[in-house]
Amino acid sequence: MPFPINRMRRLRSSETFRRMMRETSVSVDNLIYPLFVAHGLDVKLQVPSMPGVFHFSVDALREEAEEIAESGIPAVILFGIPSSKDELGSEAYARDGIVQRAIATLKQTVPELVVITDVCLCEYTSHGHCGVVRDGDVANDETLELIARTALSHAEAGADMVAPSDMMDGRVAEIRETLDENGFAQVPIMAYSAKFASAFYGPFRDAAGCAPQFGDRASYQMDPPNRREALKEIALDVEEGADIVMVKPALAYLDVISDARMSFDVPVAAYNVSGEYCMVKAAAQAGYIDERRITTEILTSIKRAGADLIITYSAKDFAMWQAGV
Ligand code: PBG
Repeated sequence: MPFPINRMRRLRSSETFRRMMRETSVSVDNLIYPLFVAHGLDVKLQVPSMPGVFHFSVDALREEAEEIAESGIPAVILFGIPSSKDELGSEAYARDGIVQRAIATLKQTVPELVVITDVCLCEYTSHGHCGVVRDGDVANDETLELIARTALSHAEAGADMVAPSDMMDGRVAEIRETLDENGFAQVPIMAYSAKFASAFYGPFRDAAGCAPQFGDRASYQMDPPNRREALKEIALDVEEGADIVMVKPALAYLDVISDARMSFDVPVAAYNVSGEYCMVKAAAQAGYIDERRITTEILTSIKRAGADLIITYSAKDFAMWQAGV
């Protein structure tokens, strides 16, 4: 029915109408907050390229965890900064590794806060790659065992969910099998399924000290132009037993999120990564943009594209705004 019968502006004419007609809303319930844990005592160190993001020592994590839980954020995802690195990334799967200790403290302090762990070797290897390096490249099959061992050590420490971000072929199946054999059949896997080799991870690599010392991650992370391949990656992870699939980064890959939502019946997570976060923070600090409105619009767009869950450094800010603080 054409104009003048049809007038789209009718239902936009008041805030109450607009509130009623909204198709998408973001809730704190859908957000996962990343946390960086480091060795030491009483450490709360600001990450230079990520305003509002800190390294916490395990003791300092208690207060932070209480604050997060009080704000209504249901889950955190942990990244560790080890005391030393080696060729095989051994602190990643050490019983008393930084992440393993942080998990125990978090579960003790706020048991209801869901603790997810990033499962990868790059923060722990001297060369900064996500697996075992042989002849200048990451050896896939040899890496699988270490990735699965890392996931198991997280589950043993009390993690509620594990999230492999290494992008090795076959890692979801290997982790599932290892967890099941060791009595952790109930621990879900959130797979970084379509993880692109992206420049948007720059600030995170500074924060976690995990930039590759040679080369790049292009031989294991996805090539940014590829969309069909992303669906194949996701299909394989679902087949191997992923409970939740993830697309990462979020903003430059909304089409992939949308495809994933339409093609698979598992929850889809999107990672609103460090580079996306710091661009907003920097522009807001320069007075160029309205941080609250832009952040809300970004999270809404990721949700509208089809993400059920959003991993975002803005979770605490968003929770605060929602609470009207
Ligand atoms: C580890 C990992 C990375 C991120 C999450 N897990 C870095 C990378 O793959 O280089 C990036 C997160 C962010 O940029 O916020 N493999």
